[in-house]
Amino acid sequence: MNRYQLKFFADSQEASVFVAHEIANLIRQKNKNGEYCVLGLATGSTPKSIYKELIRLHKEEGLSFKKVYSFNLDEYYPMEPNSLNSYVRFMKEQLFNHVDIPAENYFIPDGTISADKIKEFCAAYEQKIEALGGLDFQLLGIGGNGHIGFNEPGSLINSGTRLMMLDHATRVAAASEFGGQLSKVPKKAITLGVEKILQAKRIVLLAWGERKALVLKAAIEGPVDETLPASYLQTHADTLFVIDN
Ligand code: PGA
Repeated sequence: MNRYQLKFFADSQEASVFVAHEIANLIRQKNKNGEYCVLGLATGSTPKSIYKELIRLHKEEGLSFKKVYSFNLDEYYPMEPNSLNSYVRFMKEQLFNHVDIPAENYFIPDGTISADKIKEFCAAYEQKIEALGGLDFQLLGIGGNGHIGFNEPGSLINSGTRLMMLDHATRVAAASEFGGQLSKVPKKAITLGVEKILQAKRIVLLAWGERKALVLKAAIEGPVDETLPASYLQTHADTLFVIDN
């Protein structure tokens, strides 16, 4: 018996409003109890509409991010934070610059760290999450090859936060963001490991459009194994797949 839930919406806009409201309710609930809310956030085209709704909730309905901590899933390596393709820049432009989250409360893997410090950096990244009591909520997209974060096929269920070689398919999918030039897409990224993702108390995976239909079906209905890291979500106690029709 699978423990995950599925929720279908007419379109990604309706779905995004639903998910943004779940996040907002969680923040409000935690803050009401005098607790911080610890979010795991994602980049890519999929979550943009959720961030848009969260910004609206902040501006129009008083949702505050002052007592929120946030950890992003991944960052290309190497990558300068101000670069057009940096996920630091993405998160600032799509969310953080428009809400009241303190700059010291959000964390994104550092694409500028020297190669010999990456292991140490990744261990510290996980420790920071643990010190805050773990992720209350993890937002996920799914790659065409079934990756979550940049945990590419072959990633083990207990894999830690680490430097990952990107799949050719992942780099091809990202090329449009790099002026259509595959050679410009970094070959590596730092990603939160599968283990920490699965330790999140609640996970919501979003998938929009026909291009994600087959991989999503495989992740939800197929065997749980390393050829499709998103299939590991079948083992999680509280995962919701949010899907457009
Ligand atoms: P996308 O990427 O949101 O741009 O489709 C999802 C992913 O690769 O995890």
